[in-house]
Amino acid sequence: MQVLKERHTSREFSSQKLPPQVLSNLLWAAFGVNRPDSGMRTAPSAMNWQEIDIYVATQDGLYVYDAKANALNLVLAQDVRGATGQQPFVKEAPVNLVYVADLARTRRAGGEDQTLYTAADTGFIAQNVYLFCASEGLAAVVRGSVDRAALAKLIKLRPDQKIILAQTVGYPKK
Ligand SMILES: Cc1cc2nc3c(=O)[nH]c(=O)nc-3n(C[C@H](O)[C@H](O)[C@H](O)COP(=O)(O)O)c2cc1C
Repeated sequence: MQVLKERHTSREFSSQKLPPQVLSNLLWAAFGVNRPDSGMRTAPSAMNWQEIDIYVATQDGLYVYDAKANALNLVLAQDVRGATGQQPFVKEAPVNLVYVADLARTRRAGGEDQTLYTAADTGFIAQNVYLFCASEGLAAVVRGSVDRAALAKLIKLRPDQKIILAQTVGYPKK
């Protein structure tokens, strides 16, 4: 009840970095493995596709979250935070998450279901992030405002990887 009461969107971020353990907890809450025996996750996904990959843009580089290994794998040793959105705070905030659907994992769905389900699956993850942020005193905003074509090119996504949403996280500006 308390975290639901406190969940809200913020658009003013301090540039203070997230400690590694806080980032690790954030990603686990977002879409980590909560049932190790079966590899099931903290957010549901249509037909258990688990098709959403979380890309993590920080000052140090761009990473992709490997939930099974609970690790971040380097994608680009480059600060791409500014390319994850069109609002000025994206460059300042320490973390921008980019939710990317891997359509190669959505085989049994047709066009409309693929679009609806990948968007719905992303929504559950983004809400987990909002609730984690509410519990930790972190600021967050989920964002549809992303130049998807430019970002996909920059981070070298395959044609069957689709950017759904982004989400900025950081400490609130004092
Ligand atoms: C799918 C989706 C896309 C959104 N895109 C943006 C965005 O691009 N930029 C932004 O500042 N806020 C964005 N928002 C945040 C909404 O503006 C915000 O959730 C809404 O105003 C309600 O405020 P609340 O989250 O504090 O309840 C988006 C929210 C959703 C669900």
